[in-house]
Amino acid sequence: MTFAAQRLAFAKILSNHYSQEEIGSFYHLLTEHYFGYSKFETHQRNEEQIPIEHIQHFSEALKRLEQNEPIQYILGETEFYGLTFFVNEHTLIPRPETEELVDWIINDFNTLDKPLAVIDIGTGSGCIAVALAKELKNAKVSAIDISVGAVDTAKNNAKKNNVEVLFKIQDVLGLKNLSGTYDVIVSNPPYVRHLEKEMMQKNVLAFEPESALFVANDSPLVFYRKIAQLAISSLKEGGCLYFEINEYLGPEMIELLVHIGFKDCLIKKDIYGKDRMIRATL
Ligand SMILES: C[S@@+](CC[C@H](N)C(=O)[O-])C[C@H]1O[C@@H](n2cnc3c(N)ncnc32)[C@H](O)[C@@H]1O
Repeated sequence: MTFAAQRLAFAKILSNHYSQEEIGSFYHLLTEHYFGYSKFETHQRNEEQIPIEHIQHFSEALKRLEQNEPIQYILGETEFYGLTFFVNEHTLIPRPETEELVDWIINDFNTLDKPLAVIDIGTGSGCIAVALAKELKNAKVSAIDISVGAVDTAKNNAKKNNVEVLFKIQDVLGLKNLSGTYDVIVSNPPYVRHLEKEMMQKNVLAFEPESALFVANDSPLVFYRKIAQLAISSLKEGGCLYFEINEYLGPEMIELLVHIGFKDCLIKKDIYGKDRMIRATL
């Protein structure tokens, strides 16, 4: 089969599931992943035969895309803050909003010329911890997650990106304190209420780990409350607490943090104009 014929098969088989633009983008991600070809190069090779061993990869990918599986899981990796991360069924796929949170922290701390201690709570793929370790050269970064599979993947991601991060498997809700004191405490914890499920895309619900996403309808701030309480005794002077937040719960987040003892609570919107992250100090 030629590349052109494979491209046509993609368009035909997936047209009931995705727009033509999305299909084109999946196809190019796959040709880049398997052959290292740019869009232009793939186009130039349209009439060449696809090596037999790769035809199997394409038909497997087609089947999985038909089931609405996210392309990042099919490829087994994704980009975050200019770095490549392994992702799998144990890890959430890192989101662009989270890159904005990482960018905020980097901009706040990258001109400081002193050692920094950073902890990322609920690290998943390790995207926040690894990107911070890469960009903040003075930082000693640790990270925790309750999921053994996520921590294994995060460790691989630190290795892949040549950074040192100390990972631990821990349930933050069961901790009495964070071991150590920190200049930056950051978390993108589970924050989607079950009642918001209806508004979510099918492929998020079917493939991303439920424990990474959801909290009970009646206690949507459970992780934020616990982490903020832990941060009260673990944040160094001049340090900051950062959270990615549920877009509908900005005012509640400020109320919670002020009640616990934080000040200078600042909410930032994401590129879609939604309340998406908050920074607070003591
Ligand atoms: C929304 S995901 C964020 C993953 C990653 N930090 C990111 O931004 O893509 C939340 C993470 O919190 C972890 N988690 C859930 N409950 C936890 C708990 N009780 N203690 C520690 N981590 C927990 C999940 O396994 C998941 O990896």
